[in-house]
Amino acid sequence: MFRLTQHLLDDQRALYGADSMHMFDALSGLPEQCIRAWELGMALTVSARAEIRQVMVTGLGGSAIGGDLLRIFAGKRLPVPVTVNRDYVLPKFVGPQTLLFATSYSGNTEETLSAYREAREKGAQIIALTTGGKLKAMAEKDGVPVITVPGGISPRAATGYLFLPTLAVLQKLGLLEPLDEQVAELSRHLQAMREQLKPETPLAENRAKQVAINFFQRIPVIWGASGTSEVVAQRWKGQVNENAKAPAYWNVFPELNHNELVGFQKPEELLRQLYIVILRDTQDHPRVQKRYAITREIMGGAVAGMDEIEATGNGDLARLYSLIYPGDYASVYLALLYGIDPGPVKVIDQLKARLAEQ
Ligand code: F6R
Repeated sequence: MFRLTQHLLDDQRALYGADSMHMFDALSGLPEQCIRAWELGMALTVSARAEIRQVMVTGLGGSAIGGDLLRIFAGKRLPVPVTVNRDYVLPKFVGPQTLLFATSYSGNTEETLSAYREAREKGAQIIALTTGGKLKAMAEKDGVPVITVPGGISPRAATGYLFLPTLAVLQKLGLLEPLDEQVAELSRHLQAMREQLKPETPLAENRAKQVAINFFQRIPVIWGASGTSEVVAQRWKGQVNENAKAPAYWNVFPELNHNELVGFQKPEELLRQLYIVILRDTQDHPRVQKRYAITREIMGGAVAGMDEIEATGNGDLARLYSLIYPGDYASVYLALLYGIDPGPVKVIDQLKARLAEQ
């Protein structure tokens, strides 16, 4: 089986041939997408109507992850809280002093449209981030600023478009220090990484293909660290779900040391079907860094295997994406190992269609 899977992952014709929605092309375009996304955000004319006391992103799935990236990145830099809302309704505190990004790649996600309407009623300072759809139409009618990003890819392949414009807006409002250098480094770093992760780079040198082999026929578990890679761990899980159509689970240090770690004793047979990846960053809290080795020691041989991916790059943006990018590629390779087309997410489409009938 190993030889077969190895052979498949290095067969570029087979890989590209089974990728009907060109997920590899979308992944490969991420460095350029980030630059374009930044420019689109910077092009918006914005001013605050009232002092901003909190920043919120409302969205779902691939569109909400952009909000989580903002929460992690801007959370350490802003004097006000950044939260993500994945619901039809908004928390009570939302009001005129809330800067609210209503984010939906399609512009048609009903939860986001409902939250948008509520934000309007509450007088929040809204910015819509979308490719079009009902969200854009409503925002334009309401005189709400819209950042229109290019369509044509899956929302989960559009993290650049769904995240970087929000940073640009915060910079323009004077809430974040200039980030132009960090964005340029991010794009350069991703360009270098895609050479290592692309289908043309053989398994022996390709970290994403190696991860996919380790996940194949197993249940992936991804562990990140609070405040740094936690959102990336969640992102890996979502990418395995949506691209490979397989289950995956995630958790964060140090919290998992207080519960999940205890749960690797029974049932032994099932535990041996799990494969754990730890996402690390030298910027993780020094005490958290000590926990990695101790945790691995305690785990012993309970699971099929454990691996670690270390963040690279200088700025926080490059470091965040240096952990996201291998997971994005690995999930597409995993899909292809399973003989699954990574692009279509028929289950989500069916569910949305059925709900629309009711
Ligand atoms: C599909 C995907 C989904 C969508 C979610 C919300 O690729 O990633 O998680 O992002 O169903 O849809 P949008 O982003 O259009 O609001």
